[in-house]
Amino acid sequence: MAVERTLSIIKPDGVEKAIVGRIISRFETAGLKPVALRMTHLSVREAEGFYAVHRARPFFADLVRSMTLGPVVLMVLEGEGAVARNREIMGATDPKKAAEGTIRKEFATDIEKNTVHGSDSVENARIEISYFFPESAVHPYEWKRRS
Ligand code: CMP
Repeated sequence: MAVERTLSIIKPDGVEKAIVGRIISRFETAGLKPVALRMTHLSVREAEGFYAVHRARPFFADLVRSMTLGPVVLMVLEGEGAVARNREIMGATDPKKAAEGTIRKEFATDIEKNTVHGSDSVENARIEISYFFPESAVHPYEWKRRS
């Protein structure tokens, strides 16, 4: 399987529940390495831009509101089949439909406060990663001293 990168966001409800470490630990245990990571508080403009594909959906305003309520953790995860693997670990978008053992089943409140976001394709991962991280901010693990 090819090594891929995907964008993961721990949403404001995940940060508020103080489960950032547990979520990252699940990814690492499953072989998905964070190769870029930062915390930020999204502005309305940033959230609208990130979710622009959903602009016409009835839930768009609520989605932007919930994503700007508090800080988020942005991560690039790298690993074999990272896009699909991340989606397996997260579980279905609607926590009520999420499988046992997934992040959303265990921690998410409802479809709006669903704790994590993950890219849905390799192509979208590329777009989403570049929305938040320049290539220079991505650090694949390398055991090599820098000069
Ligand atoms: P996410 O994976 O971040 O992608 C878009 C988000 O919109 C989704 O998770 C949900 O949090 C939110 N959302 C709210 N209502 C819906 C809905 N009916 N269908 C899909 N996504 C929804």
